[in-house]
Amino acid sequence: MKFRILTLFPEQFDSFAQTSIIGNAVRDGHIEISCTQIRDYSESKHRSVDDAPFGGGQGMVMQVQPLKDAMHSEPIGENAKVIYLSPRGKTLTHDKVVELSELAELILVCGHYEGVDQRFIDTYVDEEISIGDYVLTGGELAAMVVVDSVSRLIPGVLRDANASLDESFASGLLEYPHYTRPAIYDEMEVPAVLRSGNHAEIEYWRLVQALEITKVRRPDLYNAFMKHEHDEKTRRM
Ligand code: ADE
Repeated sequence: MKFRILTLFPEQFDSFAQTSIIGNAVRDGHIEISCTQIRDYSESKHRSVDDAPFGGGQGMVMQVQPLKDAMHSEPIGENAKVIYLSPRGKTLTHDKVVELSELAELILVCGHYEGVDQRFIDTYVDEEISIGDYVLTGGELAAMVVVDSVSRLIPGVLRDANASLDESFASGLLEYPHYTRPAIYDEMEVPAVLRSGNHAEIEYWRLVQALEITKVRRPDLYNAFMKHEHDEKTRRM
């Protein structure tokens, strides 16, 4: 999977692309992360990439030309999508991350200032994605969230092939709690069932915990899970 990021701040991606699981995935060749500096494609004397909004109002708007030329500075492969990170986009979900992980290339456009000229979005962008109902100072952190969440679904990125299946959202439920040694710390004890060695009981305990946590914290997910279970059961009858 190839990620190409169009940004005014490529240096923000340096440690991200070199560290931890993402760094290993790059080094092992499972993913490729490259940045294109939008400013390099400015045609103005002062390398500017933005201008005041038509109709007046606050802030500046990123212009079509530098964005378009930055995007076309490399050929766009087949099975690619251009995504503009924006608080106006559809909120990123696990299902969307799965869908994106099946593509060969993602071109992630990071906006700044008040936003991007709508003509760029209408003409060149396949999808607008938001990472949540709050406003960031630019799209870079949102692009990193997309790269990170999509990368962990690419085969080979997580060393344990099943690691991405068991976690929150993949199952439709939030994850059960985890514990590690020591068994007792400051009088706080690890639940006995986890030390019992009885795998069936451990599985059952984890399912009950996941159901309880999801019901309290995310009733929307809980109801969807229960409906799905119910539908499956009636389908099998
Ligand atoms: N840019 C600014 N805020 C954003 C958000 N919430 N999601 C994606 N991109 C953004």
